[in-house]
Formats: sequence, structure tokens, C-alpha cells
Amino acid sequence: MRVTTSDIRKMKTEGKRFAALTAYDAVTARILDEVGVPLLLVGDSLGMAVLGYENTIPVTLADILHHTRAVVRGSRRALIVADMPFMTYHRSLDQALENAGRCIQEGGAQAVKLEGGRIMAETIERLVAVGIPVLGHIGLTPQSVHQLGGFKVQGKTLDAARRLVDDAHAVEGAGAFAVVLECIPAEVARLITERLSIPTIGIGAGPFCDAEIQVSSDILGWLPDFTPKHTRPYAQLAHEAAAAFRSFQEDVAAGSFPTAKESFSVPDDVLVQLRKELSPTR
Ligand code: KIV
Repeated sequence: MRVTTSDIRKMKTEGKRFAALTAYDAVTARILDEVGVPLLLVGDSLGMAVLGYENTIPVTLADILHHTRAVVRGSRRALIVADMPFMTYHRSLDQALENAGRCIQEGGAQAVKLEGGRIMAETIERLVAVGIPVLGHIGLTPQSVHQLGGFKVQGKTLDAARRLVDDAHAVEGAGAFAVVLECIPAEVARLITERLSIPTIGIGAGPFCDAEIQVSSDILGWLPDFTPKHTRPYAQLAHEAAAAFRSFQEDVAAGSFPTAKESFSVPDDVLVQLRKELSPTR
């Protein structure tokens, strides 16, 4: 039985902090599931973490569906949230309904995430009304990177902080089961967290949120060229992978891989007969 959105909401009322992580493939999802991470987000950070894009804008619904299916196959317990890509929910309520429906029906996710506060309240309300749970996302919303003028901390002026509080209330009022707060000052996140009845899930939002989400590649040290200030690498997988690939390459060049241990054999009589039948090599 998978974690439900009610379980996630209950964790706030019970005062249980939890960790959430992004996942893009079945193998990682299986590890995260075994560790007991309750919420896996198939984030559009897929664009940078896996597909080699500079930002999340080029990620398509087909990409998210493909990777959501893999994460669903790899997991049995976690709640799987599919991230709705840029321009797949902005044109109309019908477009949002259709594409969120595909994330649930074709992707196998149990919920969707979309970016935006008050401006997205009507969309969230509509999705929730037809039975699609929504995770909100306010603060630094990477799909608006061009509008925001870069990946910048949000909510630093009084007006901007007021807007964030209003956005958080709008997302809650529309029926979201939780809300991601990305890159906002810790004290603003604290004020929001104290005022909402749904869990706040921070990323770059300080220690006072109800939960914390990170991009799994950042936690693993898989993309060492850029480590955002708000993350902490708990492993150095890119370095370990490079060392492993280098050793393999050296062993192959030196003739020490493969050996008999990594090879398959044939019965002696088969080999003797085969040799007899073949003409001698020159
Ligand atoms: O796409 C993503 O990984 C996200 C998280 C940073 C919350 O939206």
C-alpha cells in the first residue's frame, strides 16, 4: 500500500518532519523506496539532472510520463508526484485537466505538482475537484526563470514576502495537499509554515518547514560542476563513477579484464570436435 496524500498531511498534524527526494528512474526509485522516503517527485529538474538541458523549460510531458512510469515501476510504497512541465497547464483549465489526467492515468503517478501561487489557484481547485491531488510550488519557480531574471532567492522585500504569504494561502485554499517553498528566506518560510495547515516542503527555504525536498543528484554528488548553496552532497558519486570507469578502461587496455572469472566455458569434447571440423587458422 502506497503512502497517500492524507498520510502526508497527517505528518504535519503529528509533528513528524519528513524528507522527500526527486527520482527519475526505476533503479533509484527502488533504493529510495527501500530507505522509506515517503514522497518521490519526478521533477522537471529531470532536464538538468538527466537530460543535459540548462534549465527545466525544454522538458516535455512525454519526458515526464516516460520517467514517471519508470519510477512507479521501481517503487511500491512511496507517493509518486509527477511534475507538470512548462506550458502543459497554463493555456486553459481543459489543457491542465487533460495533461494532469495523463500523468495519473498513463504515468501512474498519484499526484501532480505545478508551479505558481494565486495565479494557479483556479487550476489547482479544478484538478482537486476531479480527484487529482496537487502539490503546490511557490517562491523560486524555475519554469519562470526568464521572467525572474535567473535562479534568484524570492520574497526578500516586504511586498515580495507578502505576496508569498498570499500565494501560500491561495494554494492551500485551492485544495493542494502540500506546498513546495523554493529558495525563500528561512524566516518567511517559518511564518508561512506556522500559518498553513498543509505541510510546507522546503528546498532552500531554511530549517523551519515541515519537510525538506532535494534533487537526488545533488545529494549524491552526481553533478559536481555546480552545487547549489541550499544542498549538501552526502556522496561523491561522479568522482566514484569516474574512478570506476578509468580502472575498467586501464584493465581492458592492460589485458587484465576480462579473465576466466568473467568468461563462459564450453565442454572439452565440444571444443575438441569443433577444432577438428574447422580448418586450421593461418
Ligand atoms: O523539479 C524539481 O526537482 C522540483 C524540486 C526542486 C522541488 O521542482
